[in-house]
Amino acid sequence: MKPIEIAKDIYDVGVTDWNIRDFHGYSTYLGTTYNAFLILDEKIVLIDTVKKEFADQYLDHIAQVIDPKKIDIVISNHTEMDHSGSLPRVMHRIGEDKPVICSKMGLKNLSLHYRQKFNYKDVENGEMLSIGKRTLNFLETRMLHWPDSMFTYIKEDGILISSDAFGQHYAGWQKFDDQIGDAIMAHAKKYFANILLLYSPKILKLVETVTEAGLNIRMICPDHGILWRKDPKKIINAYVEWSRQVPRKKALVIYDTMWHSTEKMAEAIADGLISEGIDTTVMHLRKWHRSDIMTEVLDAGALIVGSPTLNNGLFPTVADFLTYMKGLKPKNKIAGAFGSYGWSGESVKFIQQELESMKFDVMEPGIRIQYAPDPEGIKSCTEFGKQIGQKLKAPTP
Ligand code: FEO
Repeated sequence: MKPIEIAKDIYDVGVTDWNIRDFHGYSTYLGTTYNAFLILDEKIVLIDTVKKEFADQYLDHIAQVIDPKKIDIVISNHTEMDHSGSLPRVMHRIGEDKPVICSKMGLKNLSLHYRQKFNYKDVENGEMLSIGKRTLNFLETRMLHWPDSMFTYIKEDGILISSDAFGQHYAGWQKFDDQIGDAIMAHAKKYFANILLLYSPKILKLVETVTEAGLNIRMICPDHGILWRKDPKKIINAYVEWSRQVPRKKALVIYDTMWHSTEKMAEAIADGLISEGIDTTVMHLRKWHRSDIMTEVLDAGALIVGSPTLNNGLFPTVADFLTYMKGLKPKNKIAGAFGSYGWSGESVKFIQQELESMKFDVMEPGIRIQYAPDPEGIKSCTEFGKQIGQKLKAPTP
Protein backbone atom coordinates (compact mmCIF):
# COMPACT_ATOMS: atom_id res chain seq x y z
CA MET A 1 0.00 0.00 0.00
CA LYS A 2 1.12 3.56 -0.66
CA PRO A 3 1.68 6.21 2.05
CA ILE A 4 -1.58 7.76 3.19
CA GLU A 5 -2.10 11.33 4.38
CA ILE A 6 -4.07 10.72 7.57
CA ALA A 7 -4.34 14.42 8.47
CA LYS A 8 -2.93 17.55 6.86
CA ASP A 9 0.83 17.01 6.46
CA ILE A 10 0.80 13.82 8.54
CA TYR A 11 1.38 10.56 6.68
CA ASP A 12 1.28 6.88 7.52
CA VAL A 13 4.43 5.63 5.78
CA GLY A 14 4.23 2.13 7.27
CA VAL A 15 3.90 -1.17 5.43
CA THR A 16 1.45 -4.06 5.16
CA ASP A 17 2.66 -7.56 6.00
CA TRP A 18 0.00 -9.51 4.15
CA ASN A 19 1.54 -12.92 4.67
CA ILE A 20 2.59 -13.20 8.29
CA ARG A 21 0.64 -16.03 9.90
CA ASP A 22 2.50 -16.55 13.17
CA PHE A 23 3.58 -13.59 15.26
CA HIS A 24 5.70 -15.37 17.85
CA GLY A 25 2.93 -17.75 18.79
CA TYR A 26 -0.08 -15.50 17.98
CA SER A 27 -2.05 -16.59 14.94
CA THR A 28 -2.18 -13.60 12.58
CA TYR A 29 -4.40 -15.28 10.05
CA LEU A 30 -5.15 -12.01 8.22
CA GLY A 31 -1.62 -10.60 8.38
CA THR A 32 -0.77 -7.28 10.02
CA THR A 33 0.60 -3.82 9.36
CA TYR A 34 3.53 -1.92 10.82
CA ASN A 35 2.35 1.68 10.90
CA ALA A 36 4.83 4.55 11.07
CA PHE A 37 4.17 8.26 10.83
CA LEU A 38 5.80 11.21 9.14
CA ILE A 39 4.97 14.78 10.18
CA LEU A 40 5.85 17.66 7.86
CA ASP A 41 6.29 20.82 9.91
CA GLU A 42 9.17 23.28 10.40
CA LYS A 43 10.92 20.20 11.72
CA ILE A 44 10.25 16.98 9.87
CA VAL A 45 9.57 14.15 12.26
CA LEU A 46 9.42 10.39 11.71
CA ILE A 47 7.66 8.32 14.36
CA ASP A 48 8.59 4.63 14.56
CA THR A 49 10.01 2.32 11.93
CA VAL A 50 9.00 -1.14 10.68
CA LYS A 51 10.37 -4.70 10.71
CA LYS A 52 13.79 -4.77 9.12
CA GLU A 53 12.62 -7.06 6.31
CA PHE A 54 10.38 -4.21 5.11
CA ALA A 55 12.97 -1.44 5.30
CA ASP A 56 13.18 -0.90 1.51
CA GLN A 57 9.44 -0.52 1.15
CA TYR A 58 9.27 1.78 4.16
CA LEU A 59 12.07 4.03 2.89
CA ASP A 60 10.37 4.11 -0.48
CA HIS A 61 7.14 5.24 1.20
CA ILE A 62 8.99 8.03 2.96
CA ALA A 63 10.67 9.04 -0.30
CA GLN A 64 7.26 9.28 -1.99
CA VAL A 65 6.43 12.07 0.49
CA ILE A 66 9.78 13.78 1.08
CA ASP A 67 13.50 13.33 0.58
CA PRO A 68 14.41 11.17 3.63
CA LYS A 69 17.53 13.28 4.21
CA LYS A 70 15.24 16.16 5.18
CA ILE A 71 13.99 14.29 8.26
CA ASP A 72 15.17 16.20 11.34
CA ILE A 73 14.02 13.99 14.21
CA VAL A 74 13.18 10.32 14.66
CA ILE A 75 10.94 9.20 17.54
CA SER A 76 11.03 5.63 18.77
CA ASN A 77 7.91 4.96 20.82
CA HIS A 78 8.81 1.31 21.35
CA THR A 79 11.93 -0.82 20.95
CA GLU A 80 10.36 -4.13 19.91
CA MET A 81 11.86 -5.01 16.56
CA ASP A 82 8.65 -4.79 14.53
CA HIS A 83 8.88 -1.03 15.20
CA SER A 84 12.61 -0.40 15.55
CA GLY A 85 14.04 -3.03 13.19
CA SER A 86 14.57 -0.52 10.36
CA LEU A 87 16.14 2.12 12.60
CA PRO A 88 19.75 1.42 11.51
CA ARG A 89 18.75 1.62 7.82
CA VAL A 90 16.79 4.83 8.36
CA MET A 91 19.60 6.48 10.30
CA HIS A 92 22.12 5.48 7.65
CA ARG A 93 19.90 7.09 5.02
CA ILE A 94 18.94 10.31 6.83
CA GLY A 95 22.18 10.98 8.71
CA GLU A 96 23.39 9.11 11.77
CA ASP A 97 23.78 12.25 13.88
CA LYS A 98 20.04 13.09 13.75
CA PRO A 99 18.36 12.86 17.17
CA VAL A 100 16.40 9.74 18.10
CA ILE A 101 13.87 10.61 20.80
CA CYS A 102 12.79 7.83 23.13
CA SER A 103 11.84 7.15 26.73
CA LYS A 104 14.52 6.55 29.37
CA MET A 105 14.00 2.81 29.10
CA GLY A 106 13.90 3.21 25.32
CA LEU A 107 17.42 4.62 25.42
CA LYS A 108 18.58 1.61 27.42
CA ASN A 109 16.74 -0.94 25.29
CA LEU A 110 17.67 0.56 21.91
CA SER A 111 21.31 0.59 23.04
CA LEU A 112 21.02 -3.10 23.93
CA HIS A 113 19.42 -4.00 20.61
CA TYR A 114 21.63 -2.03 18.24
CA ARG A 115 25.39 -1.94 18.59
CA GLN A 116 25.66 1.35 16.80
CA LYS A 117 25.04 4.18 19.24
CA PHE A 118 22.75 6.70 17.65
CA ASN A 119 22.15 10.22 18.94
CA TYR A 120 19.57 9.13 21.51
CA LYS A 121 17.70 11.83 23.45
CA ASP A 122 15.56 10.50 26.24
CA VAL A 123 12.46 12.41 27.31
CA GLU A 124 10.54 12.65 30.57
CA ASN A 125 6.92 11.65 30.92
CA GLY A 126 4.85 14.68 29.89
CA GLU A 127 7.72 16.47 28.14
CA MET A 128 6.75 18.71 25.22
CA LEU A 129 8.62 19.42 22.00
CA SER A 130 7.70 22.20 19.57
CA ILE A 131 8.30 21.27 15.94
CA GLY A 132 6.85 24.45 14.41
CA LYS A 133 3.09 24.79 14.23
CA ARG A 134 2.77 21.62 16.26
CA THR A 135 3.67 20.48 19.75
CA LEU A 136 4.51 16.88 20.55
CA ASN A 137 3.71 15.61 24.03
CA PHE A 138 5.48 12.43 25.16
CA LEU A 139 3.61 10.14 27.54
CA GLU A 140 5.49 7.30 29.17
CA THR A 141 3.45 4.07 29.13
CA ARG A 142 5.95 1.81 30.84
CA MET A 143 5.03 -1.90 30.63
CA LEU A 144 2.31 -1.24 28.06
CA HIS A 145 3.66 -3.48 26.94
CA TRP A 146 7.45 -3.15 27.22
CA PRO A 147 9.45 -1.09 29.74
CA ASP A 148 10.33 1.36 26.94
CA SER A 149 6.81 1.97 25.59
CA MET A 150 5.57 5.52 25.21
CA PHE A 151 2.92 7.47 23.29
CA THR A 152 3.44 10.61 21.25
CA TYR A 153 0.48 13.01 21.27
CA ILE A 154 0.28 15.64 18.52
CA LYS A 155 -1.48 18.34 20.46
CA GLU A 156 -2.81 20.66 17.75
CA ASP A 157 -4.21 17.78 15.68
CA GLY A 158 -5.48 15.77 18.66
CA ILE A 159 -3.69 12.70 17.30
CA LEU A 160 -2.41 10.07 19.70
CA ILE A 161 0.32 7.87 18.21
CA SER A 162 -0.19 4.98 20.58
CA SER A 163 2.46 2.40 19.69
CA ASP A 164 1.07 -1.13 20.23
CA ALA A 165 -1.88 -0.02 22.37
CA PHE A 166 -5.29 0.00 20.62
CA GLY A 167 -3.82 -2.02 17.73
CA GLN A 168 -5.03 -5.06 15.90
CA HIS A 169 -3.26 -7.63 13.76
CA TYR A 170 -5.23 -6.98 10.62
CA ALA A 171 -4.14 -6.39 7.02
CA GLY A 172 -6.74 -5.14 4.57
CA TRP A 173 -7.44 -2.35 2.11
CA GLN A 174 -9.00 -0.30 4.90
CA LYS A 175 -6.93 2.22 6.88
CA PHE A 176 -9.62 3.69 9.17
CA ASP A 177 -12.32 2.48 11.53
CA ASP A 178 -15.08 4.09 9.45
CA GLN A 179 -14.02 1.97 6.46
CA ILE A 180 -14.24 -1.37 8.26
CA GLY A 181 -16.87 -0.74 10.96
CA ASP A 182 -17.50 -3.12 13.84
CA ALA A 183 -15.74 -6.02 12.07
CA ILE A 184 -12.46 -4.68 13.46
CA MET A 185 -13.52 -5.14 17.08
CA ALA A 186 -12.96 -8.92 17.04
CA HIS A 187 -9.36 -8.31 15.96
CA ALA A 188 -8.88 -5.59 18.58
CA LYS A 189 -10.24 -7.93 21.25
CA LYS A 190 -7.94 -10.76 20.20
CA TYR A 191 -4.97 -8.38 20.27
CA PHE A 192 -5.91 -7.17 23.75
CA ALA A 193 -6.46 -10.69 25.11
CA ASN A 194 -3.15 -11.99 23.80
CA ILE A 195 -0.85 -9.02 24.30
CA LEU A 196 -2.22 -6.62 26.88
CA LEU A 197 -4.45 -8.62 29.21
CA LEU A 198 -1.79 -9.03 31.88
CA TYR A 199 -1.44 -5.25 32.08
CA SER A 200 -5.17 -4.63 32.69
CA PRO A 201 -4.65 -2.69 35.96
CA LYS A 202 -2.13 -0.41 34.23
CA ILE A 203 -4.53 0.18 31.35
CA LEU A 204 -7.28 1.31 33.70
CA LYS A 205 -4.81 3.66 35.37
CA LEU A 206 -3.59 4.96 32.01
CA VAL A 207 -7.11 5.74 30.81
CA GLU A 208 -7.68 7.61 34.09
CA THR A 209 -4.45 9.59 33.61
CA VAL A 210 -5.26 10.46 30.00
CA THR A 211 -8.78 11.49 30.98
CA GLU A 212 -7.45 13.65 33.82
CA ALA A 213 -4.89 15.23 31.48
CA GLY A 214 -7.87 16.40 29.40
CA LEU A 215 -6.33 15.38 26.07
CA ASN A 216 -8.69 16.16 23.24
CA ILE A 217 -8.09 12.95 21.32
CA ARG A 218 -9.57 13.13 17.83
CA MET A 219 -7.65 10.23 16.32
CA ILE A 220 -5.78 7.25 17.74
CA CYS A 221 -3.06 5.80 15.55
CA PRO A 222 -1.67 2.48 16.75
CA ASP A 223 1.35 0.83 15.15
CA HIS A 224 -0.71 -2.15 13.95
CA GLY A 225 -3.94 -2.30 11.98
CA ILE A 226 -6.50 0.40 11.35
CA LEU A 227 -6.54 3.93 12.78
CA TRP A 228 -9.41 5.15 14.96
CA ARG A 229 -10.62 8.47 13.50
CA LYS A 230 -14.40 8.15 13.50
CA ASP A 231 -14.85 7.02 17.06
CA PRO A 232 -11.62 6.83 19.10
CA LYS A 233 -13.71 6.60 22.28
CA LYS A 234 -15.04 3.26 21.11
CA ILE A 235 -11.69 1.53 21.46
CA ILE A 236 -10.90 3.37 24.71
CA ASN A 237 -14.22 2.20 26.17
CA ALA A 238 -13.59 -1.33 24.92
CA TYR A 239 -10.18 -1.32 26.65
CA VAL A 240 -11.81 -0.24 29.90
CA GLU A 241 -14.40 -3.00 29.60
CA TRP A 242 -11.86 -5.69 28.71
CA SER A 243 -9.49 -4.56 31.46
CA ARG A 244 -12.20 -4.93 34.08
CA GLN A 245 -12.59 -8.61 33.13
CA VAL A 246 -16.18 -8.89 34.25
CA PRO A 247 -17.01 -12.58 33.70
CA ARG A 248 -19.98 -13.52 31.52
CA LYS A 249 -22.18 -16.59 31.99
CA LYS A 250 -19.94 -18.27 29.49
CA ALA A 251 -17.91 -21.47 29.79
CA LEU A 252 -15.09 -22.95 27.76
CA VAL A 253 -14.30 -26.66 27.88
CA ILE A 254 -10.69 -26.79 26.70
CA TYR A 255 -9.06 -30.17 26.19
CA ASP A 256 -6.93 -32.56 24.20
CA THR A 257 -7.44 -36.27 23.84
CA MET A 258 -5.55 -39.40 22.77
CA TRP A 259 -8.21 -42.10 22.25
CA HIS A 260 -11.36 -39.92 22.61
CA SER A 261 -11.98 -40.69 26.29
CA THR A 262 -11.12 -37.17 27.51
CA GLU A 263 -13.10 -35.90 24.53
CA LYS A 264 -16.20 -37.81 25.63
CA MET A 265 -15.76 -36.33 29.09
CA ALA A 266 -15.46 -32.83 27.59
CA GLU A 267 -18.70 -33.24 25.68
CA ALA A 268 -20.54 -34.59 28.71
CA ILE A 269 -19.33 -31.66 30.84
CA ALA A 270 -20.50 -29.29 28.09
CA ASP A 271 -23.94 -31.01 28.11
CA GLY A 272 -24.21 -30.26 31.83
CA LEU A 273 -23.26 -26.61 31.33
CA ILE A 274 -25.65 -26.20 28.40
CA SER A 275 -28.50 -27.76 30.41
CA GLU A 276 -27.97 -24.91 32.89
CA GLY A 277 -28.32 -22.37 30.07
CA ILE A 278 -24.62 -21.45 29.98
CA ASP A 279 -23.09 -20.14 26.75
CA THR A 280 -20.65 -23.03 26.23
CA THR A 281 -17.93 -23.79 23.68
CA VAL A 282 -15.92 -27.01 23.46
CA MET A 283 -12.37 -26.34 22.26
CA HIS A 284 -9.98 -29.07 21.13
CA LEU A 285 -6.44 -27.78 21.52
CA ARG A 286 -5.27 -29.16 18.18
CA LYS A 287 -8.23 -27.63 16.33
CA TRP A 288 -8.20 -24.19 17.94
CA HIS A 289 -5.18 -21.92 18.00
CA ARG A 290 -4.11 -20.94 21.51
CA SER A 291 -4.49 -17.24 20.67
CA ASP A 292 -8.11 -17.73 19.53
CA ILE A 293 -8.90 -19.66 22.71
CA MET A 294 -7.33 -16.85 24.73
CA THR A 295 -9.65 -14.34 23.07
CA GLU A 296 -12.61 -16.38 24.32
CA VAL A 297 -11.03 -16.69 27.78
CA LEU A 298 -11.14 -12.89 28.16
CA ASP A 299 -14.83 -12.71 29.11
CA ALA A 300 -15.53 -16.34 30.02
CA GLY A 301 -16.71 -17.00 33.57
CA ALA A 302 -15.69 -20.67 33.68
CA LEU A 303 -12.80 -22.66 32.24
CA ILE A 304 -12.86 -26.42 32.44
CA VAL A 305 -9.59 -27.94 31.27
CA GLY A 306 -9.03 -31.58 30.39
CA SER A 307 -6.01 -33.69 29.58
CA PRO A 308 -5.22 -37.36 29.33
CA THR A 309 -2.21 -38.47 31.35
CA LEU A 310 0.75 -39.01 29.06
CA ASN A 311 4.03 -40.33 30.46
CA ASN A 312 3.00 -39.35 34.00
CA GLY A 313 2.24 -35.79 32.95
CA LEU A 314 0.07 -33.48 30.92
CA PHE A 315 -0.58 -33.85 27.24
CA PRO A 316 1.84 -31.34 25.58
CA THR A 317 -0.81 -29.07 24.04
CA VAL A 318 -2.53 -28.73 27.42
CA ALA A 319 0.75 -27.81 29.11
CA ASP A 320 1.41 -25.31 26.30
CA PHE A 321 -1.98 -23.67 26.72
CA LEU A 322 -1.83 -23.51 30.51
CA THR A 323 1.63 -21.89 30.34
CA TYR A 324 0.42 -19.39 27.76
CA MET A 325 -2.74 -18.51 29.68
CA LYS A 326 -0.92 -18.21 33.00
CA GLY A 327 1.44 -15.60 31.57
CA LEU A 328 -1.50 -13.46 30.47
CA LYS A 329 -2.97 -13.43 34.01
CA PRO A 330 -6.72 -13.70 33.33
CA LYS A 331 -8.91 -13.06 36.37
CA ASN A 332 -12.33 -13.85 37.82
CA LYS A 333 -12.84 -17.44 36.64
CA ILE A 334 -14.45 -20.53 38.05
CA ALA A 335 -12.34 -23.48 36.93
CA GLY A 336 -12.31 -27.26 36.86
CA ALA A 337 -10.10 -30.12 35.70
CA PHE A 338 -10.80 -33.47 34.12
CA GLY A 339 -9.08 -36.23 32.19
CA SER A 340 -8.81 -39.90 31.46
CA TYR A 341 -5.82 -42.02 32.34
CA GLY A 342 -4.46 -45.53 32.02
CA TRP A 343 -2.54 -46.36 35.18
CA SER A 344 -0.91 -43.37 36.90
CA GLY A 345 -3.36 -40.50 36.27
CA GLU A 346 -1.49 -37.34 37.29
CA SER A 347 -2.94 -34.97 34.69
CA VAL A 348 -5.97 -33.76 36.67
CA LYS A 349 -3.83 -32.95 39.70
CA PHE A 350 -1.38 -30.99 37.53
CA ILE A 351 -4.17 -29.03 35.84
CA GLN A 352 -5.70 -28.20 39.21
CA GLN A 353 -2.35 -26.98 40.52
CA GLU A 354 -1.95 -24.72 37.52
CA LEU A 355 -5.49 -23.35 37.77
CA GLU A 356 -5.02 -22.67 41.48
CA SER A 357 -1.75 -20.87 40.78
CA MET A 358 -3.78 -18.55 38.53
CA LYS A 359 -5.99 -17.77 41.54
CA PHE A 360 -9.11 -19.19 39.93
CA ASP A 361 -11.98 -20.55 42.01
CA VAL A 362 -11.19 -24.23 41.34
CA MET A 363 -13.90 -26.89 41.77
CA GLU A 364 -12.64 -29.76 43.95
CA PRO A 365 -12.21 -32.53 43.16
CA GLY A 366 -11.74 -32.69 39.43
CA ILE A 367 -12.87 -35.74 37.50
CA ARG A 368 -10.57 -38.63 36.59
CA ILE A 369 -11.75 -41.66 34.65
CA GLN A 370 -9.65 -44.74 34.00
CA TYR A 371 -9.33 -45.69 30.33
CA ALA A 372 -12.81 -44.99 28.95
CA PRO A 373 -15.91 -43.45 30.52
CA ASP A 374 -18.85 -45.80 31.07
CA PRO A 375 -22.44 -44.44 31.37
CA GLU A 376 -21.87 -43.71 35.07
CA GLY A 377 -18.68 -41.81 34.23
CA ILE A 378 -20.48 -39.78 31.57
CA LYS A 379 -23.20 -38.99 34.10
CA SER A 380 -20.67 -37.77 36.63
CA CYS A 381 -19.11 -35.51 33.98
CA THR A 382 -22.51 -34.04 33.08
CA GLU A 383 -23.19 -33.50 36.78
CA PHE A 384 -19.79 -31.76 37.10
CA GLY A 385 -20.76 -29.45 34.22
CA LYS A 386 -24.12 -28.73 35.88
CA GLN A 387 -22.46 -27.84 39.19
CA ILE A 388 -20.12 -25.42 37.45
CA GLY A 389 -23.05 -23.94 35.55
CA GLN A 390 -25.02 -23.43 38.78
CA LYS A 391 -22.04 -21.82 40.47
CA LEU A 392 -21.60 -19.52 37.50
CA LYS A 393 -25.26 -18.48 37.66
CA ALA A 394 -25.25 -17.92 41.41
CA PRO A 395 -25.28 -14.26 42.42
CA THR A 396 -21.83 -12.99 43.37
CA PRO A 397 -21.63 -12.56 47.15
FE1 FEO B 1 4.20 -4.37 17.80
FE2 FEO B 1 5.47 -4.64 20.98
O1 FEO B 1 5.51 -4.62 19.13
